[in-house]
Amino acid sequence: MIYLKTAEEIELMRGACDLVSRTLGEVAKWVAPGVTTLKLDTIAREFILDNGGKPSCLGYHGFPGTLCIEVNETVVHGFPSAYTLQEGDIVGTDCVAELNGYHGDSCYTFAVGEIDEKTSRLLQITKESLYKGIEAAKAGKRIGDISNAVQTFCERNGYSVVREMCGHGIGKSMHEDPEVPNYGRRGIGPVLKPGMVMAIEPMINLGSKNIVISSDGWQCRTRDRKPSAHFEHTIAITHEEPEILTTFRYIDEALAAKQ
Ligand code: MF3
Ligand code: CO
Repeated sequence: MIYLKTAEEIELMRGACDLVSRTLGEVAKWVAPGVTTLKLDTIAREFILDNGGKPSCLGYHGFPGTLCIEVNETVVHGFPSAYTLQEGDIVGTDCVAELNGYHGDSCYTFAVGEIDEKTSRLLQITKESLYKGIEAAKAGKRIGDISNAVQTFCERNGYSVVREMCGHGIGKSMHEDPEVPNYGRRGIGPVLKPGMVMAIEPMINLGSKNIVISSDGWQCRTRDRKPSAHFEHTIAITHEEPEILTTFRYIDEALAAKQ
C-alpha cells in the first residue's frame, strides 16, 4: 500500500533527509587514496549518532555497516572493509538515516583522485539520469514515467540499467511501496500523487546490465566487472514540481574545498 504523507510528516522527513545529506558531506571530506572504506563508515555512523539520528542500514537484516560501499564493479550493498581506496577507483556511499521516526536515503558515487575519462562520464550521466527521473515525477504521471526517463537517457548514452534493484517509497520504514524501477514503459504503474515520498536511485553500468550477488546474499557486482555508478535522492511529490528532500550541496561544498 502506498502511504501518502501529511505536510507535517514531510517536514519531519526534511529533517531526516538533511541529516543524511550532511552525513554524505562529511564522508566526501574523507574520500581519498589510502583511506579505508571502514573509515568512511565510521565517519558516517558517528556523524548520524552525534546529530541524534540512527543509522538505518546498520543491523538491517544483518547488514554490517552504516554505509553501503560500492567500489568500482560493486553495484549495491557492499560491506565497509579494510580495503584501501586507490587512485582511479570510484566509490558509491549509500546512506540511510532515521530521525524523529522517519528515514532519509541518498547515495553519491565519488571519484577517488583522478579517474579515467570513460568512468568519469559514467558518473556524470548517471547523476544526470537521476535528475531526469525526478523531472518526470509530477503528480498525475505514473511510476513508469520516472523509470522510462532514467532508462532512455542512460541507454541513449550507451550505458545499461541494472534490473534487479529498484528505488522505493520511504517514510516510517526505509522501504515502502511503490517500487521505482530504473527501466520500463511510460504510462504504466501507480499514479503519482501529492504526499508520495520516494527514493529514486539509478544503478547504471558501463558494460552489460548483468549482475552477480555474492554468497552472503548482499554484495552485488557487475558480471563483467566493469564499473557501476549509483546516485540517489529522496523526493516528495507535490501539486507542482517534485521537492528534492536530500541534497548534494554539502558534498559539492566539501569537494570544492578539497581542490
Ligand atoms: N539505499 C539502499 C536501498 O534503498 C539502502 C538499503 S541498504 C541495507 O536499497 F543494507 F539496509 F539494505
Ligand atoms: Co534507497
